[in-house]
Amino acid sequence: MKISLISAMSENRAIGLNGRLPWPSLPNDWANFFKVTHGCRMIMGRKSYDTPDRLSSEAGNFVITRQEDYAVEEGFTRVGSLAEALDACKNDKEVFVIGGAEIFHQSLPLADSLHLTLVHGVFEGDAFFPEFSEKELTLKSREDFPADAQHAVPYSFLVYEKS
Ligand SMILES: NC(=O)c1ccc[n+]([C@@H]2O[C@H](COP(=O)([O-])OP(=O)(O)OC[C@H]3O[C@@H](n4cnc5c(N)ncnc54)[C@H](OP(=O)(O)O)[C@@H]3O)[C@@H](O)[C@H]2O)c1
Repeated sequence: MKISLISAMSENRAIGLNGRLPWPSLPNDWANFFKVTHGCRMIMGRKSYDTPDRLSSEAGNFVITRQEDYAVEEGFTRVGSLAEALDACKNDKEVFVIGGAEIFHQSLPLADSLHLTLVHGVFEGDAFFPEFSEKELTLKSREDFPADAQHAVPYSFLVYEKS
């Protein structure tokens, strides 16, 4: 099983503010998210599950929580830890960890790849993507996009793989 992380962050590493994305909508980033993750199961923290911007996969989704009685909607499975979610996916070709900050922090040391959208601006945040070094992950590709009529800020798609 390949463990992949996918996230979008600003230049100051913000990924969320009050449970929402800190920047104006970037439709091309949503499209890239669904293209990259197509057909794979997803793992998310309970707080990310519990946001208006929640993302999910038709293949299946795991919600990590310490609350044993936490009820999740159809298409989602409650698990008590990241390890439990990964164990449930051990026969999958690839699984995507989709956030938020706490779950990225726990899963980054296990990541085989990271799809990171860099949003070119400084945005206020209360959740941040963890720091990592090239010793852990090496940049394999980068695509840059300017702001346009649908995208208020420029952004880049970065793909890292385990060093
Ligand atoms: N830009 C992006 O790509 C992106 C992606 C996803 C999310 N976000 C943003 O990130 C923010 C949410 O991130 P967050 O760090 O606050 O929360 P989170 O990582 O989504 O979820 C944290 C929750 O996960 C559960 N959890 C964490 N570690 C656990 C463990 N070891 N065992 C069992 N359960 C565990 C706990 O749930 P319980 O409290 O229920 O026990 C904890 O409160 C939001 O603003 C969201 O919009 C951004």
